[in-house]
Amino acid sequence: MDKLRIVGGTPLRGEISISGAKNAALPILCAGLLTADSLSLTNVPRLNDISTTLRLLGNLGVRAERHADESVTITADQISSLEAPYDLVKTMRASILVLGPLVARFGQARVSLPGGCAIGQRPVEQHIQGLAALGADIHIEHGYVVARATRLKGAVIRTDMVTVTGTENLMMAAVLAEGQTVLENAAREPEVVDLAELLIKMGARISGHGSDRIVIDGVESLHGAEHRIIPDRIEAGSFLCAVGAARGDITLRGAAPETMGATIAKLREAGLEITCGDDWIKASMDKRPRPVDIRTHEYPGFATDMQAQLMALDTLAEGTSVIVETIFENRFMHVQELLRLGAHIDIDGHTAVVRGAPRLSGATVMATDLRASASLVIAGLAAEGETLVERIYHLDRGYERMEHKLRTLGARIDRLTGKETT
Ligand code: EPZ
Repeated sequence: MDKLRIVGGTPLRGEISISGAKNAALPILCAGLLTADSLSLTNVPRLNDISTTLRLLGNLGVRAERHADESVTITADQISSLEAPYDLVKTMRASILVLGPLVARFGQARVSLPGGCAIGQRPVEQHIQGLAALGADIHIEHGYVVARATRLKGAVIRTDMVTVTGTENLMMAAVLAEGQTVLENAAREPEVVDLAELLIKMGARISGHGSDRIVIDGVESLHGAEHRIIPDRIEAGSFLCAVGAARGDITLRGAAPETMGATIAKLREAGLEITCGDDWIKASMDKRPRPVDIRTHEYPGFATDMQAQLMALDTLAEGTSVIVETIFENRFMHVQELLRLGAHIDIDGHTAVVRGAPRLSGATVMATDLRASASLVIAGLAAEGETLVERIYHLDRGYERMEHKLRTLGARIDRLTGKETT
C-alpha cells in the first residue's frame, strides 16, 4: 500500500489549480442514466471515486469515454443491467445514487445496500422512504434495495434530516415522475445545486434548488447536455488549512470562494490573510494560528468535510479550541493519529477539546478515512521532522494528485509505492 513521506517545516509558496468537485461529479455522472443521449462533462476530477463510479455505470451498460483534458462523455443508450452489485457498492457508498435514476427511467432497480463506513453507520432509509412516497414498490432483500414502479408519481417529501445524497437521489427520481414533487428539508449544498443545474440543462423543470424546498415538475423524458463541474470547495478549504499550518503564501486558481463562506470566515478568525476574486483565492499566514471553535452544520454552515482539516490547524493554535461534530457519529478517527504527532486533544462524545501546542513532531500515522487523511497530511506539513502517512488510498478517493500539488507549493513530500514502503 502506498504511503506519503513528508518532511515538515517548509512554508508553502506558489499557485495551484483546484479540481472539479468530487461530490458534484458523482451524482452528475449518475444523472447520465436518465437519458439515452450523451452527457459531455468537463472539469471532472481524476479520483478513485470517479473511476469507481464509471466502473459501476459501465457495469450497467453505460458507455464512458474519459478524455485527456479532465472531460468525460457518458451515454446510457444501451443499458444491459439494472443491478449495482455489492462488490462495487461496498467500496463507495455514493453508488446508491444510481437508485433514483434507474427507477425513474427504467421502472426498476436492484442496488446493494452501501453498508457503513469509518465515519458512521450512514443508513439510507430516507432514500427508500422517499422513493416509496413517489409510488415505488421498494423493499430490502438479501442486502439489496429492490425497487419497482410503472411510473413514479410526484409527492411532497419531507426527509427526517437534511441528507445530501438523499436529496440528490430523490431529485433525480422526481424529474421523470408524473406531476409535481416537493422536497422539503432539502440539502442546500452547492453540489446539490450543480446537479439541479445539470438536470435543468437536460430538460428537467426544477426550482428552489439551493434552498431547503425544491420543487420538481416531472417531464416525459430528458435529453443530453454539456456541463462543467463546479470547483471542489473541500479541496480548496483543505489547502487553505495547509497554508495556515505550514505558513507561507498561496494562490488557488479555478476555485469558487462564494461556496466557501463558512470556511473562509473561520480561517480568517484563525489569522490567515485571505483575499478572493471570482475564481481565485489568495491566502497567507506568517504566525502561529489563533484557536477557532467550530460546530459542523449542513450548508451554509461549517462543513463536516472540513472538520478534520481545521482540527489539524487547531492543534498548533496559541490556545484551546472546541470542535463539535454534529453530522456523523464517528468522525474523530483522525484524533488518535494527531495525538501521535504530539497534539493535545480530548474527546467527549461529539466534542473534541484541542489544546494548541507550539509544535508537532513527525511520526508514522495511519489514514482511516478520506478527510482524516487530509488532516494528517496538513499536520505533517507543519510537524518537525519526517511524517509517514500510511493507507493513503483513502486520500486518493477525494484528492487529485495531492502530493504533486503540494510539491508545486514547495512542500517536501513524496509518495512511496509498493516495495519502497517496506
Ligand atoms: C454526503 O454524504 C457527502 N458525500 C459526504 O462527503 C458528506 O460528509 C455528507 O454528505 C454531509 O455533508 C457525497 O456527497 C458523495 P448525508 P451523504 O446523507 O449524502 C444521516 C466526503 O468526505 N442519514 O447528508 O451520505 C447520515 O447518517 C464525504 O466527501 C440518515 O440517518 O451524507 C448522517 O448522519 C464523506 N439516513 C446525516 O444524515 C439517511 O437515509 C447526513 O448524511 C441519510 C442520511
